[in-house]
Amino acid sequence: WPPFVASAPGKAILFGEHAVVYGKAAVAGSLSMRAYALVTPRTDGLMRLCLPDIDIDTTLGALPSAAAIASLAHPGDVATLLSAALLPQEGPGRTAMLTFAYLAGALLPASVRQSGLTLCVRSLVPVGAGLGSSAAFSVSLAAALLRLGGRVSAADSAEERQLVDQWAFRGEQVAHGTPSGIDNAVATHGGFLAYTRGSSPRQLGAAHPTRVVICDTRVPKSTRALVAGVRALRDQHPAAIDSIMDAIGALAEDAAQRFADPSAERLEDHLRGAVALNHALLAALGVSHPALERMRVISAAHKMPAKLTGAGGGGCALALVPQAGAASEVAAVCAELAAEGFACYPTVVGGAG
Ligand code: MEV
Repeated sequence: WPPFVASAPGKAILFGEHAVVYGKAAVAGSLSMRAYALVTPRTDGLMRLCLPDIDIDTTLGALPSAAAIASLAHPGDVATLLSAALLPQEGPGRTAMLTFAYLAGALLPASVRQSGLTLCVRSLVPVGAGLGSSAAFSVSLAAALLRLGGRVSAADSAEERQLVDQWAFRGEQVAHGTPSGIDNAVATHGGFLAYTRGSSPRQLGAAHPTRVVICDTRVPKSTRALVAGVRALRDQHPAAIDSIMDAIGALAEDAAQRFADPSAERLEDHLRGAVALNHALLAALGVSHPALERMRVISAAHKMPAKLTGAGGGGCALALVPQAGAASEVAAVCAELAAEGFACYPTVVGGAG
């Protein structure tokens, strides 16, 4: 078989973070920042995994058998099938190796197991920034392995995507234990998705690719602590916090309807207002950060309204770029953000899976 590349995008939450924990809707979209998995055949029977973005270049011993994988109670238990000495300590390298061992062990046909392969993944999705880097990895890996097994083809049917999504979800379970499934759904299907806790993500049909600047403040955050802080605030002020959650949920529902409508008029104007409002509501929940507010001041001066994306408390923000905005304006905002020590990624949200 000839070498080939499978790729999948990262994601950003557009509306609804935190309120989604309380059963409200959220909307997420795919990013044009992607992970690219290059698979190359070998003849020496080895399984080489190279991930230059996280300094991993390793050759695995034997892969677990498909039967051993099928007998696991939870995909995360795959670690018990591997030699502990070969695995790095906690961190993205360990997670990636376990995900690879799980998916390759389950999906690789016997002929490829015997001859071996090299898998190299380059990712333009920043790791650990809440932008779905592990799902981009999982989806590109699942797509590549399913293709090697002849279970997905260049035809790229809806059923084939569903299969990729299902296997990528198991990869996400290896990485995160009990993920919601939204990240792998966005990375598989692309576009925009609405989701509420406990039900499967709903794809929002129409294509409205939207220019954004993603800014990583590089301020470390703990999602767990931020979610707990919001809960404590709600315990103190239940009626007030519940009405903020309702307001955030309403913004997400409204955006979901507009993204589903191919002819959505004045979508850009609507989103600009909604982004600013959603951020203000998140700030009221106490999950903004001076770095995020600084980012918003800089982007607002360039007529790009911004909100935090993900858990807040640092981490990432996204700014909407006017559709008619010049590339020089984007470069100017990125230069100012970089001067603050922030990373800046001009990208498009809502593109291909
Ligand atoms: C974090 O990316 C999103 C939160 O809503 C937490 C969650 O949904 O689990 C803050």
